Amino acid sequence: MTTEAVPRTTADILALIADDMREVDRVIGRRLNSGVPLVGEVSRYIIAAGGKRLRPALLLMMCGALGHRGTERFDFAAVVEFIHTATLLHDDVVDESTLRRGRPTANESFGNPASVLVGDFLYSRAFQMMVDGGRMEVMRILAEATNVIAEGEVQQLMNMHDASLDQAGYLQVIRSKTAKLFEASVRIAAVLADAPPAVEQACIVYGQALGTAFQVIDDLLDYDGDAGEMGKNLGDDLREGKATLPLIIAMQRGTPAQAQLVRTAIEQGGDSSDLESIMDIVRETGALDSVRQAAAAEAQRAMDAIEALNFEKDNPYAEGLLQLAAQLLGRRA
Ligand code: IPE
Ligand code: IPE
Ligand code: MG
Ligand code: MG
Repeated sequence: MTTEAVPRTTADILALIADDMREVDRVIGRRLNSGVPLVGEVSRYIIAAGGKRLRPALLLMMCGALGHRGTERFDFAAVVEFIHTATLLHDDVVDESTLRRGRPTANESFGNPASVLVGDFLYSRAFQMMVDGGRMEVMRILAEATNVIAEGEVQQLMNMHDASLDQAGYLQVIRSKTAKLFEASVRIAAVLADAPPAVEQACIVYGQALGTAFQVIDDLLDYDGDAGEMGKNLGDDLREGKATLPLIIAMQRGTPAQAQLVRTAIEQGGDSSDLESIMDIVRETGALDSVRQAAAAEAQRAMDAIEALNFEKDNPYAEGLLQLAAQLLGRRA
């Protein structure tokens, strides 16, 4: 392998798995079949809108790094994307969100009942595909991940309007609702590759740390992002009264008056007129920088896990996994 093959940009990284991703898209298209037209309509509506396909990409990148070329990887990558999409359909109902992937959410376009039920269809289709895959260990990982994601979403529901939530409580929710599926995605690659336990363990750490960093940045972008780039509305967390890391840190750092304003917004749910003043507080207290640092620490933990695996220096997939962790910190979408 020449040094030119080492990926440097996001485009270089994704080029490594471009053919694989086309295969995954083919599986996705094939497995959306249903005799009930609304099922296909709603699921294609959200899936055709795109999304970054990050979780299947991670599964395929890790397969590449570990030298696994079995074609069943495409099916499991599609399974992971189906589970992710099902969680989004349900999440947008729960969060009453109106914009996703740059277009009205499915709940906005088709209503809550259709979103919930088609989310159930995607979950159960994913389970059918898992069973077809016939790998008990993969089924165990994904069944556990799906269960933990649901717990995380319920835990978050219970934390709503709780201004006393601390970093540990916040972290527990995001490790469950988001990081768990990242973790499962790369762990599956280790299982498919018949990798030794130490490698699987490193994959778990990489996925967990990367997924945590990803959600921390997502929560930052809810205050500091651009709706056009994100394809979803900003300020949703505040409107819901969700205590995410920017607010938790702002309350710790702010003057008593600033902390009180944030506390009230969490307890009562902020409206759009609060957003500006809360954003000012988040900025003035340096909370944004601290949130970035927290994400950077998790991204570093992810990179350390890859480094510890001592891949060959010219393994482009391993380099890609490192670069993904580094570039995630600067993501805008
Ligand atoms: C959205 O995930 C849900 C979070 C965990 C923040 P993504 O940002 O990966 O969503 P898509 O699939 O690219 O739309
Ligand atoms: C993402 O949570 C949903 C899951 C991981 C299940 P959020 O509610 O924080 O993410 P967005 O902002 O809607 O994408
Ligand atoms: Mg949401
Ligand atoms: Mg949510």
